[in-house]
Amino acid sequence: MNDRLHQNIFYSIIEGVLLISPSLTIQESNLTVEDMFHRSRDSFIHHNLEELFPRQSHLLDKVRKVLITGACYHDVEAEGMRNTPSSRFPANLTLSPFLESDDSIQGVVILIKNMTLIRELEERQRPADHLNNLGQIAMGMAHEIRNPLGGIRGSAQLLRQEIKNKSHQEYLDIVVSEVDRINRMVKRMMDLTRPLDLKLASTNIHKVLEEILMLEKDSLTRKNGRFEQVYDPSLPPIEADEDQLKQVFLNLIKNAIEASRKGGKIQIITRVSSGYAVKPASSPVPQQNIVVEIIDSGEGMDEATQKKLFTPFHTTKQKGSGLGLPISLKIVEDHHGKIKVTSEKGLGTTVQVFLPTGKR
Ligand SMILES: Nc1ncnc2c1ncn2[C@@H]1O[C@H](COP(=O)(O)OP(=O)(O)OP(=O)(O)O)[C@@H](O)[C@H]1O
Ligand SMILES: [Mg+2]
Repeated sequence: MNDRLHQNIFYSIIEGVLLISPSLTIQESNLTVEDMFHRSRDSFIHHNLEELFPRQSHLLDKVRKVLITGACYHDVEAEGMRNTPSSRFPANLTLSPFLESDDSIQGVVILIKNMTLIRELEERQRPADHLNNLGQIAMGMAHEIRNPLGGIRGSAQLLRQEIKNKSHQEYLDIVVSEVDRINRMVKRMMDLTRPLDLKLASTNIHKVLEEILMLEKDSLTRKNGRFEQVYDPSLPPIEADEDQLKQVFLNLIKNAIEASRKGGKIQIITRVSSGYAVKPASSPVPQQNIVVEIIDSGEGMDEATQKKLFTPFHTTKQKGSGLGLPISLKIVEDHHGKIKVTSEKGLGTTVQVFLPTGKR
């Protein structure tokens, strides 16, 4: 490989890369480091490593050990320091020796991964066990509920044909439509608990989104609202189950419409994620992700609702089942993706769906 190629690789790496000299000064860095630390390269080149990671003796100790022994260290936890504004961010570092052609150690290469988003997602309360317990009960009950429902529905329909009194007929119509509602809910509950059999294929996320937006356009127009799509045309296709993803975005778009006020705009943005990579257990390296953001300027949510977002049956809507988000999360997680929700009461909600492209 020639020097130019080396240089291109160095600058293209999605993680931060630093080259540290034996006297622990920063000799080289790639562009991601500037982004991570909100600092220009000139402000830290030839400065001590401690400027980016102040007062972290465990890190300096390890760098010195690499210089002496040539050993590598993975998963070194550290805190990066930003000056403007003054703040720290969690980082995960990999240290390895920088070797000359004669195998002598000339410095240390540090790979830096920004863990802010991952930490946030980990901390977000997600009642996973809840789902498992619920799953077992639900699977048992769902069957038992649906059978008699069939009987009730059939009898109500027969009775309706016999009865001539209009208002009595209407009562029976209510019986049928409410039975249908329970049926739909039980079916969704089963969806939530059954292991998904994903049919993966190369999927164009914009096509998925456009189909859903077409379906839901009328309900937003009724509120005088509109969708605004900001798509990244260079977005790569992803390995996904198209039908399942449609369910996810249908749920999310419906929620955004339901939360919207008159004349509200809903933005749908797609882009490639640089700051965050999901690492499925089966894959040794992080993967590149695409992000779909659904941003509404609707009613937003208070803290209590945000904490319970993914709890099955938690709803603030009269006709809601509280299953839309838990089902969406399950589908996205089965694709090794993540969902992040940020919201402010009265201002609106942003839902971010991260999905791996399958590329590394
Ligand atoms: N975009 C949003 N804006 C404001 N609140 C939201 C938004 N999305 C979800 N929520 C809140 O989260 C709750 C749970 O959402 P979820 O989609 O799981 O269920 P639901 O919409 O109530 O019912 P379902 O989707 O089953 O019809 C909602 O009742 C609502 O309070
Ligand atoms: Mg919903």
